[in-house]
Amino acid sequence: MVEAWYMDESQEDQRAPHRQRPNRAVSLEQLRRLGVVYRRLDADNYETDLCLKEIRRAENYSWMDIVTIQKDKLPNYEEKIKTFYEEHLHLDDEIRYILEGSGYFDVRDKDDKWIRIFMEKGDMITLPAGIYHRFTLDENNYVKAMRLFVGEPVWTAYNRPADDFPARKQYMKFLAEEAHNGV
Ligand code: LAC
Ligand code: NI
Repeated sequence: MVEAWYMDESQEDQRAPHRQRPNRAVSLEQLRRLGVVYRRLDADNYETDLCLKEIRRAENYSWMDIVTIQKDKLPNYEEKIKTFYEEHLHLDDEIRYILEGSGYFDVRDKDDKWIRIFMEKGDMITLPAGIYHRFTLDENNYVKAMRLFVGEPVWTAYNRPADDFPARKQYMKFLAEEAHNGV
């Protein structure tokens, strides 16, 4: 099971777990209400996996590549992971499927609190367009991930504040509707 929790406020290394004490777990249902979709897949067989194929067909994830981020192999590693960790949004969904290693995707909840999602081998996540988020490797400093995209990829990250984009406004509307449906 994928694990998520509310983060503490400490300024220690971004790669630390940053759990509160006691831990405040976040469920898949809570993530779904933020528009975050989680799936579990068979990463050992991603090249032939029919589930992956079906998701790509159904969601129009036509484009994909595979990236590896590793401490001793990436020049300027420490600087790069600081860049990934800047709070930002995109105008399109961000889809990541972890094939090896692990890392943390942090997303803002509806009250602007950070939720940390621990993603490891077999975990796929879709972050909706317009959600503020960031990424970091964990203390293992290694991840191999598939990036998927609907059509030709656009990786532009807009650092916060980026509230005037239609994608952001649409996402805020989605959050408001989810809150309303929950009453
Ligand atoms: C990305 C991660 C860093 O945009 O969120 O690739
Ligand atoms: Ni991003």
